[in-house]
Amino acid sequence: MANDTLTITDNRTGKSYEVPISDGTIKATDLRNIKTDAEDFGLMTYDPAFMNTAACRSAITYIDGDKGILRYRGYPIEQLAEKATFLEVAYLLAEGELPTQAQLDKWTNDIRYHTYVHTNIIKFLEGFRYDAHPMGMLLGAVGALSTFYPDAKDIAHPANRYVQRVRLLAKFPTIAAFCFRHSRGLPYEFPRNDLDYIGNYVNMMFSIGGQHQPNKVLQRALEILLILHADHEQNCSTSAVRAVGSSHVDPFSAMSAGVAALYGPLHGGANEAVLQMLDHIGDKKNIPAFIESVKKGEGRLMGFGHRVYKSYDPRAKLIKKTADDVFAQTGLNPKLEIALELERIALEDEYFIKRKLYPNVDFYSGLIYQAMGYPTDYFTVLFAVGRLPGWLAQWEEMLEDKDQKIARPRQIYTGIEIRDFKPIGQR
Ligand code: CMC
Repeated sequence: MANDTLTITDNRTGKSYEVPISDGTIKATDLRNIKTDAEDFGLMTYDPAFMNTAACRSAITYIDGDKGILRYRGYPIEQLAEKATFLEVAYLLAEGELPTQAQLDKWTNDIRYHTYVHTNIIKFLEGFRYDAHPMGMLLGAVGALSTFYPDAKDIAHPANRYVQRVRLLAKFPTIAAFCFRHSRGLPYEFPRNDLDYIGNYVNMMFSIGGQHQPNKVLQRALEILLILHADHEQNCSTSAVRAVGSSHVDPFSAMSAGVAALYGPLHGGANEAVLQMLDHIGDKKNIPAFIESVKKGEGRLMGFGHRVYKSYDPRAKLIKKTADDVFAQTGLNPKLEIALELERIALEDEYFIKRKLYPNVDFYSGLIYQAMGYPTDYFTVLFAVGRLPGWLAQWEEMLEDKDQKIARPRQIYTGIEIRDFKPIGQR
């Protein structure tokens, strides 16, 4: 018997089966051979929330949650955060290698060429109420882009996919900035193609009457934050992009599904929820009572815990370092004191220790964004701008993967087997 197999004995029938093991996994479909009789559908696995199911093979991002390791295409996140630009990382995620100078120049120029959006997108955004949540606007507008680029439906050809990916990377910050300007009632600031990717984005956000004095330290801090968010393997929004993309819909629609998933407070929306939580706590003296309420199950300590990391999130470590640079420019965010104390108490508390709950990427990022001048409800948009290269790389990988088909999980039906329709008067 081969070593790399699993022997399963079905006690219902007494039959044994040998299932191959590859990369520490068995194929769920191999279990379908395990049947009680010819009519039996075959054995399935039950795995709500995909706690222990690999849905794809991926060469993009590696995480070791116990050791707190995160690598993009083999490069440690610490090195990328220190040395790379956001567009280099976007290229790395998409192409598998860091670009040469010539490749980076082409990549940058291709993206720069597409930064403008059709002016009808502005009319579309104007239809939103003055207080619309920017994530709602973003997901609507990114989805709406699909109607402007019907050629994007042709997802079969890599060259066409490249054009759409470049369009998305180029237009996403423009739309993201427009969402901010809308919420402030400010006129939209158009892209400036003489600026770099981050500089142009910040300029579209904050320029008033064409005037904006860039702060290079804050721009680099934002760039680092975006790099830290650029990919995180099969998280909720990436899984949404892959699942929706597996229907072969255009990438604008698939990316808007990613934005929708990210919006939720258990995912990207946590950075906004952390600030609301810090506001709610209000003062260091209220922390013990707040922690007690969390332990009683009355709410969660937002920005803590992770499905994969069971030690300190490496991104949170790097963000804490970046915070020093930012606060040196902007002055301390008064809520930092509450956050630091909250972390100290939580990390010493049995409840959090036992469950291996540590600060995640969202615990400190909001404090930095707030110090930089971004409103609380905009934080998740920044996460989305950062995550887009990851979604696009994962979408591309999914389409190239011969193992993939339309995503279609199974279920265990628990409802009533059959009954007859009753007219309304008899119900
Ligand atoms: N505060 C208090 N208790 C928690 C927390 C928390 N933040 N997170 C998990 N727990 C408890 C949970 O109640 C459960 O306890 P018990 O075993 O007694 O029922 C145990 O820890 C395991 O939790 P879980 O919900 O089974 O864990 P999960 O892997 O399904 O959830 C999570 C992961 C990130 C959704 C969760 O930790 C959470 O809700 N955190 C707060 C929201 C947050 O910060 N999200 C951002 C995640 S990082 C950025 C991103 O990738 O989106």
